[in-house]
Amino acid sequence: MRLIRIVFAGVLCLILSVNLTNAQKPIYLDVNQPIEKRVDQALSLMTLEEKVAMCHAQSKFSSKGVPRLGIPEVWMDDGPHGIREEVYWDKWSGAGWTNDSCTAFPALTCLAASFNSQMAFNYGTIIGEEARYRNKNVLLGPGVNIYRTPLNGRNFEYMGEDPYLSSRMVVPYVQGVQQNSVAVCVKHFALNNQETNRMGVNVMVSDRALNEIYLPAFKAAVTEGKAWSIMGAYNQLRGQHCCHNDLLLNKILKGEWKFDGVVISDWGGVHSTDEAVTNGLDLEMGTSTNGLTTDGTAPYSEYYLANPFLRGLKSGKYAETAVNEKVRRILRLIFRTTMSANRPFGKFVSPEHSETARKIAENGIVLLKNDKQLLPLLVGKYQKIAVIGENSTRSLVIGGGSSSLKVAYEVSPLEGFLKKYGKEHILYSKGYMSNDNDNKKINPTSQYSDSLLSAAVEVAKKADVVLFVGGLNKNFLQDSEGDDRKTMDLPYNQDKLIAELVKVNKNFTVILCSGNAVSMPWLSDVKAIVQGWYLGSEAGNALANVISGEVNPSGKLPFTFPKKLEDNAAISFGKTSYPGVNDNEEYKEDILVGYRWFDTKKITPLFPFGFGLSYTTFEYGKIATDKKEYTADETIKVSFTLKNTGKTDGSESVQVYASQLKATLYRPAKELKAFKKIFLKVGETQTIEMQIAAKDLAFYNDKTQKWTLESGEYVLRNAASSADIKSSISIQIN
Ligand code: BGC
Repeated sequence: MRLIRIVFAGVLCLILSVNLTNAQKPIYLDVNQPIEKRVDQALSLMTLEEKVAMCHAQSKFSSKGVPRLGIPEVWMDDGPHGIREEVYWDKWSGAGWTNDSCTAFPALTCLAASFNSQMAFNYGTIIGEEARYRNKNVLLGPGVNIYRTPLNGRNFEYMGEDPYLSSRMVVPYVQGVQQNSVAVCVKHFALNNQETNRMGVNVMVSDRALNEIYLPAFKAAVTEGKAWSIMGAYNQLRGQHCCHNDLLLNKILKGEWKFDGVVISDWGGVHSTDEAVTNGLDLEMGTSTNGLTTDGTAPYSEYYLANPFLRGLKSGKYAETAVNEKVRRILRLIFRTTMSANRPFGKFVSPEHSETARKIAENGIVLLKNDKQLLPLLVGKYQKIAVIGENSTRSLVIGGGSSSLKVAYEVSPLEGFLKKYGKEHILYSKGYMSNDNDNKKINPTSQYSDSLLSAAVEVAKKADVVLFVGGLNKNFLQDSEGDDRKTMDLPYNQDKLIAELVKVNKNFTVILCSGNAVSMPWLSDVKAIVQGWYLGSEAGNALANVISGEVNPSGKLPFTFPKKLEDNAAISFGKTSYPGVNDNEEYKEDILVGYRWFDTKKITPLFPFGFGLSYTTFEYGKIATDKKEYTADETIKVSFTLKNTGKTDGSESVQVYASQLKATLYRPAKELKAFKKIFLKVGETQTIEMQIAAKDLAFYNDKTQKWTLESGEYVLRNAASSADIKSSISIQIN
């Protein structure tokens, strides 16, 4: 009897305690429950008003949670190469916090130039840590719009002209970020390939170019990287704005790619409640209250997805499933980030972040020319080194638009050279001056620029070697959001200055800071050229390490430098193709973007895609494959040897391009299908193995709307750049 009483009491306690746990911890708060179960329950507890409130901004960079249920807000921040400072609730301007100065990482063109997927993972990891530390759960980046012309003001935020390269770089970036319980927001989906008329331009592009060129990096970020959010673009595609574009969002992103994350609008990119409700947008940001489209008159409650949406739901115009579908995604994002199990704590401006930032910068710097091996300038070799040019001291983490950063520190190139070579060996002259009146298109007075020029000439005369640090600078029209560059020329009379300086000193190196190709009328007059991008906090250290030879350069160009602007495909077709006429723009070059155009049309570029020199030399062996014939579902194993034949250890980014000899549709002369960065010590040889899935040799057929792999002969080539083919081999696809 006593035993029965004990057992009964025990069972009662157990039932009570289970009930108690259930009562204390609803499923949606339990991080150990499956996310979908948590989403279902949270959704079932929410009112219609609470649901709608989650679908639009509540401040410049945040949207509401459900305070009553303990579901936190979503906090977003730019992106994509550092965590932007805190801004006021309703304004773009900095709120003046003192604990939000971040590490600036190299801009994404530099990351792409590293041709090193491990660098992309490291990049994602550390920027994700900074976002997490700052309590952001959505990082507004990375950007993977394709480099279509050298004029696009935001090319520096993207990963170049090749869909394969950008795909291979974006996946590890996404994975690196999201392991911090911070969502990426891959932008700008899609075809935001120019800043001129970015809100209005209506892109007409073939399905083939869409699928082969403009979508692959987004697709990889979603299907392989498992990105948790994506940002709609400002522009239109085929008559519909991309933030509520049925084809892009419903059919492709959520349909074909099965994206289960949140579609966030670009700030001010929404134009219609009906379309926003039905065409795949989930979260509307930046429409007004000092957003991009009004001067701050309309409140958040009047956003397209706010009261107008609520009224439509209440009147029965929109089904409740429409709001549930959006909120479900937003809840999923919150449970994946802020309310996830084992959410790490993040880190901010740590020494490891600086170290990784510097390594990425060193990996991405591209040596474009090095006559008579002027570089490296070994420490102690020269008595007097002249450092000339405004970009040697100007902050290049500021400007450019939404990616502008408030940083904990920034080592300028001049500081880097002073540290490396010692004060007594460096002479400095500004040489030219940009104008913070660029927006008003006022040029510096010629008198002032003449005196800067003559002072620089005097300095150059006294020096053994000159390091000219110029380029663009993220001022409006010089690599910046809001409008494109107007020419490919260097601004602020730099061409004239360089021409005068080389007259008095032949040991001349140009270091270009830019995210775009520039014209180089002085190309044959200077001995060395270094593409130095925007390198972030560690810029000066990375440049000094490469210039001094402590680090052997190994970056390769992620886009083609044309000899003249008209050689660029989009521009060669005139205004209808770029920048568009009366809002309409037709991508007439179709799939022939970047090197695909130059190669196919046999136009010699200034510097080809994939190009970059080293202080050492490499010898490529002949390319081989494991078999001669493959079926569509097989993998082609490619191999060749690479030997470091020079006198310095160094890394080389080897590339494999493919072409189909006879195809039903036209095909580009060749396309990048594999790359790898290999480090070799002096004299070392390695056999490099790479894999290409046969199905990746397919093209997209507009007519059948399918990727098609045709039987027949294909050629694979190993190469040091798109223009430097080492050997080739034919294979057969059956
Ligand atoms: C840009 C986005 C950015 C957003 C928020 C927009 O103007 O196009 O890339 O993330 O502003 O700053």
